[in-house]
Amino acid sequence: MAAAAQRERLLSWLVALALCAAPARALIDGLYCGADVCYDVLGVTRHATKAEIARAYRQLARRFHPDRFRPGAAEPPGETRRSAEEKFLLVATAYETLKDEDSRRDYDYMLDHPEEYYRHYYAYYRRRLAPKVDVRLVILVTICAISAFQYYSWHSSYNEAISYLVTVPRYRIQATEIARQQGLLSRGREKGKNRRSKEEIREQEEEVIRDIIKNKIDIKGGYQKPNVSDLLLCQVLLLPYHLSSYLAWNLSWIYRFTVCRQEYGDPEKLYIIRRYMKMSQSQFDSLDEKLRESFLEKRLWIRENYEVYKQEQEEEMKVKMATDPRMKRYRRWMKNEGPGRLTFIDD
Ligand SMILES: *[C@@H]1O[C@H](CO)[C@@H](O)[C@H](O)[C@H]1NC(C)=O
Ligand SMILES: *[C@@H]1O[C@H](CO)[C@@H](O)[C@H](O)[C@H]1NC(C)=O
Repeated sequence: MAAAAQRERLLSWLVALALCAAPARALIDGLYCGADVCYDVLGVTRHATKAEIARAYRQLARRFHPDRFRPGAAEPPGETRRSAEEKFLLVATAYETLKDEDSRRDYDYMLDHPEEYYRHYYAYYRRRLAPKVDVRLVILVTICAISAFQYYSWHSSYNEAISYLVTVPRYRIQATEIARQQGLLSRGREKGKNRRSKEEIREQEEEVIRDIIKNKIDIKGGYQKPNVSDLLLCQVLLLPYHLSSYLAWNLSWIYRFTVCRQEYGDPEKLYIIRRYMKMSQSQFDSLDEKLRESFLEKRLWIRENYEVYKQEQEEEMKVKMATDPRMKRYRRWMKNEGPGRLTFIDD
C-alpha cells in the first residue's frame, strides 16, 4: 500500500495548476557527474571506445592538474586555482564512471531511463560500497539518499509552483486583498528614522503575499506541499504499520459486511465505486463533488448498475468522438497522413 501511495504521488498530475510538468531529469545531483553528462565532461561521444576515453581523460587531467598551479607555473588561461581543482575532480569522476564497462552500462541506462531513479541510486551505491559493505547497509544508504533527493526536489518544485502563482494576477490580487484586511501591508505608516527604503518595503510585501498564497492555496499533484511522511524512508519505516492497519481494515470490512451483513455507509459505497473505476484516491478526490454524489444517486456500488453506467459512458464518448470537429480532423489526418509521417501542420 505504501508503494502504491508512493507511485501515486510520483505519477500524480497537476490538478490546480496549468504548469507544464517538469521533464524527468536524467541527471541527479550527487550521482556520477552530477548535473553534467560524464561524456560531455570528457568531450567524447557515447560511442567512444575505452582507448578514446582514456586519452581524453589524460589530456584533461594534465590540463587541470593542481600541480600546474604551483607558484610560477603557467596557469591554463581563464581558470582560477579553485575552478581548475573542481574540473580536475569532475574529470576524474567522469573517468571513474566510464572506464569500467559495468559502471558505464549502469550510467548509460540512467541516461536512457531517467524515470527509474530508485534503481539508479541502488546501482550507484552498490557499485561503490558492495562487496566491502553489507548489502543491507547499501540498501539503507540508498533509501536515505533517495529520501534526501525527494525532499530536495519536492521542495524545489513546490517553490517553483509558488513563484509562478505569485505572478498570476488572479492569485496576486486575492492575496493582496487578504493582506490588506489583516493589516499586513503597512505602507506609508512609518515616519521618522525608522522609515524603511522603498526596496525593503517592496521585498517585505512580496514576502507577505508569498506566505498568503502558500497558506491559502491547495496545490495537488506533483507540485504539492512536501510532506515528510511521503519520503521513501518514512514509507519504509511505516510499512509494518500501514500493512497491519490495512489488514485490520480489510478484516473489519469482511466482518461487518460479509459476516454481519450490515448496510454499506457512504464512504464504503464510494470506495467500491472507486475500485470499479480503477482510480487512485487522489484522482477520485479531484472529481467534482456533485459528480461523486451522482454516483451515489445512481447506486453505482452495485456491480450491475455500474456496468450499465460504464456502457452509457462509452456510448456517449463514441458519439462525442463522431461529432467533435477536432476528432473528425484527427481521423481524417490518420487516414490521409497516418501517424508514421512527421508533419508540423498547426491544426
Ligand atoms: C502528511 O501526510 C499524512 C499522511 O498522508 C497526513 O496525515 C498529514 O496530515 C500530512 N501532513 C501535512 C503537514 O500535510
Ligand atoms: C481485502 O483483501 C483481499 C485480498 O487482497 C482483497 O481481494 C479484497 O478486495 C480486500 N477487501 C477490500 C474491502 O478491499
